[in-house]
Amino acid sequence: MTFMDLDGRAIAILQENDRGGFTIPTRRLYPFQWNWDSAFCALGFATFDPDRAWQEIETLFEGQWADGMVPHIIFRRDDPDYFPGPSVWRTPAEPPTSGYSQPPVVATIIRRLLREGNPDDTRRAAALFDKTLAWHRWFHTYRDPFRRGVIGLAHPWESGRDNSPDWDESLRAVAVAPDLEPYERRDLDHVDASERPHKDEYDRYLTIVSFGRNAAWDADTIARRGPFLVADPGLTFILLRADRDLLALANTLGRHDATGEIEGWISLAEAGADYMWNEAAHGFCARNMHDDVISPALTNASMLAFYAGAGSPAQRTRLAAEARRIADSVPFLMPSWDPARSEFEPRRYWRGPIWCVMNYMIADGFREAGEDALADRIRRDTAALIERAGFYENFDPTTGNGCGGADFSWTAAIWLAWASPTRVAAAA
Ligand code: GLC
Repeated sequence: MTFMDLDGRAIAILQENDRGGFTIPTRRLYPFQWNWDSAFCALGFATFDPDRAWQEIETLFEGQWADGMVPHIIFRRDDPDYFPGPSVWRTPAEPPTSGYSQPPVVATIIRRLLREGNPDDTRRAAALFDKTLAWHRWFHTYRDPFRRGVIGLAHPWESGRDNSPDWDESLRAVAVAPDLEPYERRDLDHVDASERPHKDEYDRYLTIVSFGRNAAWDADTIARRGPFLVADPGLTFILLRADRDLLALANTLGRHDATGEIEGWISLAEAGADYMWNEAAHGFCARNMHDDVISPALTNASMLAFYAGAGSPAQRTRLAAEARRIADSVPFLMPSWDPARSEFEPRRYWRGPIWCVMNYMIADGFREAGEDALADRIRRDTAALIERAGFYENFDPTTGNGCGGADFSWTAAIWLAWASPTRVAAAA
């Protein structure tokens, strides 16, 4: 296929996965609306249908809870092909949703969608502003309960990096509920078991869900008394970047009433990042907020420090050196776990594979930090992976083969918005 053909295929994937105002990540494996997937899909739609791009974000906020949380899945209806569906979550939400959130990339995406001076864009961005602000406030309140300036996950699924080794230690500390309801997974009907989490982990994922359900999904109880709270460089850095973008939006939209609160969050996070600094790993790593144990190795989320504008110059120099070491060790960037570590599994879900959305954000950060060689390499690798393998969910960094679901929406979106060589040519 030529690049033009791939552009056409990417548009077709977004259209095929469009369920009328919202996009599913891929058929069968993920048949509902996912939070950060939708945000990235909007970037893809923006390249050929700006109205549809805004709509994707607007429908995402239909799932927003009264406390400000935007859930990680909006079900709208049940689908027997998916587990755990609404009957497991039993949240009080209408439309039915899951009970955790996902990385808040929305403010950053809204800022990119907004073509200054376009009245329709301005009106739609203004209508989304308070909702986004409320969601950020929810994160700063209920996912940083000790005001440390870092954002903790109440469930591995909240990170969007569901099966990362970052959660292994903290997950092992969760005692499986003796009265866990019997369940049947559906993911293994769609994807090979070698690319998915083990049963041990699934039992614990569902134990944490049952805590939330028993707490009637009260955010304060979940944050303070739940079985799992792990500071995540991914969530923390994505929110820090999103806060900076929200601040810029507040200024553009004349919402000066909101700027003081957002500036407070930014200062707190800039100071808080040190909590996740791992001197031995030369980077920011996940850290259990209950016992302060830090994860031993770098992930693709560690690399988002540049995107967030976090860390001291010395920390950033060391982290960039680690990125170059990893770049020399695999043919394709950016693996989701350090390939030098024994836990590295190049095909298993977040324990090695590459995700295009992470690459997009990481490269953006490297570019802004003046690390052009790394940014260029990541973009080239992303394009090469899609050209060779197709629009897969994720990719093996050692072979370039596609893994997980096929015809994946956010992979198509990232191709259109950033990775396609036709985009680079158009931007030049
Ligand atoms: C997986 C990923 C998550 C993503 C979802 C839909 O659960 O870990 O980040 O949002 O799939 O693509």
